[in-house]
Amino acid sequence: MRGGSVGRLDGKVAVITGGASGIGLETARRFVAEGARVVLGDLDPDRAAEAAGGIGDGTSIVAEAVDVREEADVARLVARAVEVFGGLHLAVNSAGLGTWSPIHQHPLEEWNHVVDVCLTGVFLSVKHEAAAMVAAGDGGVIINLASINAKVPSDGMVAYCSAKAGVEMLTRVAAMELGPHGVRVVALGPGFVDTPLTAFASLGGIRDAFVASVPMGRIGRPGDIADAALFLASDEASWISGETLYVDGAESTKGYPVIGDHLAALGDELAALAGEAPEGESAG
Ligand SMILES: NC(=O)c1ccc[n+]([C@@H]2O[C@H](COP(=O)([O-])OP(=O)(O)OC[C@H]3O[C@@H](n4cnc5c(N)ncnc54)[C@H](O)[C@@H]3O)[C@@H](O)[C@H]2O)c1
Repeated sequence: MRGGSVGRLDGKVAVITGGASGIGLETARRFVAEGARVVLGDLDPDRAAEAAGGIGDGTSIVAEAVDVREEADVARLVARAVEVFGGLHLAVNSAGLGTWSPIHQHPLEEWNHVVDVCLTGVFLSVKHEAAAMVAAGDGGVIINLASINAKVPSDGMVAYCSAKAGVEMLTRVAAMELGPHGVRVVALGPGFVDTPLTAFASLGGIRDAFVASVPMGRIGRPGDIADAALFLASDEASWISGETLYVDGAESTKGYPVIGDHLAALGDELAALAGEAPEGESAG
């Protein structure tokens, strides 16, 4: 209950990875507004604390530093939800990043970094979130951030596209295994959304190319995805599990614009933008 009105997530406790920015941040805001209590996890403790402080006080949201590549960090994030708010019912795994390199020049380190965060990080998150939910015996909902790039290829993004396709299958396997425990596992497949992750599109006409690729005629907003996360987390979605919901203004019906020529032409300008972003954010 919030101020006498009923919230759609009243009584629920959630963890959100990648909660300091973009889609994760907007989802945290929606969840708290609907009565959930949230542990907001992100890489940098100061950014995580600032994000949480902008949403609510310690009775509704707390911050935790987490690197989703580190199993001990993920275990601590989940334990914090149980310690501070008494349980875990919802999880949104939004931590992610992308890079751009043609496959024949792709550095192995870059591949490993993207796969570690976007796929292994989701595996570790689901593992520990599910363990807490199964132990409590009260069901739950886990929402993984995939992408339209789980099914729509993009030039220069082999690591990201492969990792996101992996998230979609991981979601299906987890839903199959966890259904008998009353835990739903779903994925969201956003199209191109305005966040720090996609700030590179402000350069060199890339944004216009994306707008042209969206039949609905606009780029997505973080709130478009947060609204879908809220629906999937709510009891209104109680028979939905194992699926990826694409939220993309029909972008995936047309395919991704070819961005390699735009990005290659940017050179130093793109490197400067990546240098300004917090760790883990670059073109993708
Ligand atoms: N923005 C888009 O167009 C778009 C489209 C499809 C899918 N997605 C996916 O949605 C999710 C959120 O993206 P966003 O656009 O909000 O990006 P964002 O850059 O705004 O937020 C991502 C957050 O993840 C955090 N993060 C990165 N590496 C981390 C790590 N190792 N451990 C913990 N946190 C880490 C970053 O610090 C950042 O706060 C990502 O998984 C992304 O791949 C985004």
